[in-house]
Amino acid sequence: MELKKEEQKMFDGEYGEGTQIAMEILVALGKIYNAESMIPVSSVQVAGVSYKTIGDAGLEYIQEMKRKEGKVRVPTFLNPAGMDREQWKEMNVPEHFAKKQLEIFEAYEGMGISPTYTCTPYLIGIRPKLGEHIAWSESSAISFANSVLGARTNREGGPSALAAGICGVTPNYGLHLDSERKAKYEIEISEDIKFEDRSDFGLFGLKAGVLVKNSYPAFKNMKKENGKINEDDLKYLGAAMAAAGSVPLYFVDKITPEYNLSDDVEKITITKKDLDEIRELIGPDKVVELIATGCPHASLKEIEEIVNLLKEGKKLNSRIWIYCARPIKEQAKEKGYLKIIEDAGGKIVADTCMVVSPLEESVKGIVGVNSGKAAKYVPTMCKREVCFNKLSEIIKKSKGEKND
Ligand code: F3S
Repeated sequence: MELKKEEQKMFDGEYGEGTQIAMEILVALGKIYNAESMIPVSSVQVAGVSYKTIGDAGLEYIQEMKRKEGKVRVPTFLNPAGMDREQWKEMNVPEHFAKKQLEIFEAYEGMGISPTYTCTPYLIGIRPKLGEHIAWSESSAISFANSVLGARTNREGGPSALAAGICGVTPNYGLHLDSERKAKYEIEISEDIKFEDRSDFGLFGLKAGVLVKNSYPAFKNMKKENGKINEDDLKYLGAAMAAAGSVPLYFVDKITPEYNLSDDVEKITITKKDLDEIRELIGPDKVVELIATGCPHASLKEIEEIVNLLKEGKKLNSRIWIYCARPIKEQAKEKGYLKIIEDAGGKIVADTCMVVSPLEESVKGIVGVNSGKAAKYVPTMCKREVCFNKLSEIIKKSKGEKND
């Protein structure tokens, strides 16, 4: 691999041991994937922030990098952690877990990383442009950046993203190259599939992810019944595909900024019957103890919609927790949404999410979700059964009202 002068200095240890280790990781990766050189990145998103997912081994690695004076040199942001910094006690997070989580906060922040703790940095102003090279590592954020924004990132792991933040570069291979950004499957959506709600995009994403695995699909005929497909819909679609099949890039005809097919593209069709098979697996009609939404982290628009649902009709019989980035929570507070949600017995939770926090400590019963990704991970990561449906239907059921 050819290194530029500065990169070689990092590799040789001239900027300290932390930087040297980081460059060694990037060079090793570059060799595995036959990258010829490094490419500068404009932003980095580091996953592996929750104590629940990285454990003591991960914490020790981050502390070691900080001790060895690893410091990021490009804007670098953090994925959701294991708890809300302000509300962790009232959310039953065990003291031992919180102590470890605080140590993770300290280690990452000590390396100069911004404490964003969100998987939707693009909702709080971190929006790379078409063609911009980045190194992000949370699967739904990778999918959104590549597909909806047209930025370029591989599926980084926590350590390789941290290394990219420290060195400001990443090996130039895979999705950084034009030649790789081509769909291997073109998926026709049968006319009997109706996208009405963002949960429909999540459900569809689960099926598409299983079909294409870690490949790149392109969708034809994707239409919404009652309006235009928006970024929240695409966020749910991409997150579910990334969870069900590790899909880092997809195209939607006439919607995403790119739509490229490979020469040997395979054509397949997804029908309503395919989706019904999946829907049956995630039981849509149960009474839930907790409604957990915001996977990926909620936008202000989603919170506004929830507030409207809460204001109508009877009182909710379940708790509702809405996960989002802290700046979105602040905006919700300014608009008066937070008060309405809290008055309804709910919470807006920042810094974490229903999957990477110890949700199992707070909930014994069924969790209602409207996200395909959460439907896949809550049962395995939190050992709780889920009820997957449109949020409006879950809320109606919780109020004891008749569903549509
Ligand atoms: Fe984000 Fe957590 Fe879902 S990181 S995509 S809210 S599992």
